[in-house]
Amino acid sequence: MKIMVIGLGYVGSVVAAGLASEGNQVTGVDIDLDKIKSLRENIVMIKEPGLQDMIVQASGSGNLVFSHTSEIDFIRDPVIFVCVDTPYLQNAGCDVSQVYNTIEWIKQKVEVQQPILVMKSTVVPGTGEKIIQNYLCTEGDGISYVMNPEFLREGQALWDWAHPDRTVIGSNDENAIKTISSLYSKIEAPFVITDVTTAEMIKYAANAYLATRISFINEIAMLCERFNADIDIVARGMGLDQRIGLSYLRAGIGYGGSCFPKDTRALHDICNRNGIDFELLDAVISINNKQCNSAINKLKDKLGSLQRRRIAVLGLSFKPDTDDVRESPALKIIRLLYEEGADITAYDPLAIENAAGQLPADIKYTDKALNAVDNAHAVLVVTAWREFVDMDWATVKSLMSDPYVVIDGRNCLDYTYLRKLGFYYSGFGRK
Ligand code: UDX
Repeated sequence: MKIMVIGLGYVGSVVAAGLASEGNQVTGVDIDLDKIKSLRENIVMIKEPGLQDMIVQASGSGNLVFSHTSEIDFIRDPVIFVCVDTPYLQNAGCDVSQVYNTIEWIKQKVEVQQPILVMKSTVVPGTGEKIIQNYLCTEGDGISYVMNPEFLREGQALWDWAHPDRTVIGSNDENAIKTISSLYSKIEAPFVITDVTTAEMIKYAANAYLATRISFINEIAMLCERFNADIDIVARGMGLDQRIGLSYLRAGIGYGGSCFPKDTRALHDICNRNGIDFELLDAVISINNKQCNSAINKLKDKLGSLQRRRIAVLGLSFKPDTDDVRESPALKIIRLLYEEGADITAYDPLAIENAAGQLPADIKYTDKALNAVDNAHAVLVVTAWREFVDMDWATVKSLMSDPYVVIDGRNCLDYTYLRKLGFYYSGFGRK
């Protein structure tokens, strides 16, 4: 099937590559000419494992081409995926201006009978109905609308694309539902077929619930510290209950990324605008907001003042296997350390370039983790990169200075071994 994918960010790139690799004829479109030029030279700016190869292969087989918006005179693709960004704006909530602009552009260009507009961008519940009323119901605009939320996790996006737990399709147009369902027919996953608003709500409810689990386990970790219980065992002990499950119960400095922070705030915002008091979500957000401060307090418990203390920060991305630093707790922690007058050196396998532009100019960066810890009084692990877990911590100890503090922001290190080496180790709710 001929498909256009508009917006080649973290989601759109995976959607375009995924659909092309399944044999569809895909045109990837973006407003950023540099991005289009790079993609045409098989250079994929996004560091998503496997994405570069998949795009090169799909382009090579002729299933995937890239166009800048200015090069598109008309749209004849029967299916158009919209994957543009919907950032959260303070006081304005979920900003859907890029979605509206894209739809206006589509309406000007479309030259095909009853095309199907598939919304992949995360839009707050009620947006789709507004789009249908305000943009698609005017005379002669025979464009069908489908809400098809994505649940891709960065770092595992290609796996998630091929192995979703479910495919959600929200529309009031039976033919559109049939057509879009057929696109996913090769993927083994149950369908959830519903209306547009319910499909939008599923996306927000899923992300808000996962964020709730994280804030919940972070509060339990705080209790474990006060009552001397072991959070790892608590998480396992509760997670083995089939009704709970083991995932998203890892305590630490909290969630970051381009989705959980934005989606929880956007959901909270539409509740406020509708006079709804979503107290639990309120608490989830405020708990998450304080996790970075508790990491700083753990440092201070041991070092006292952080003024001129040499602190190594390992990790800048919001999670491993990505260069994405959007809402990364690491950046918040570095800013807090900077305010305390600490002497900061940071390292990340992929994300230094993206982070440096958002941090004070006198933060130092190294190209190796062992260089970052050299002569440091303390090491903060803020992203659970495999590289940090497997690092030679005996060598780290030999390079560091007294009092050899390790704050494990992701509860990912072997604290028994580190304590044997003579580190002062502190995690979140760990023994
Ligand atoms: C998330 C959702 O999982 C995905 O379905 C949605 O489409 C986009 O948002 P993503 O943000 O890429 O995906 O990463 P995820 O792996 O879910 O982690 C989000 C944040 O939560 C990260 O900062 C991670 O460190 C943190 N996290 C995750 C925890 O703190 N504890 C956990 O147990 C799990």
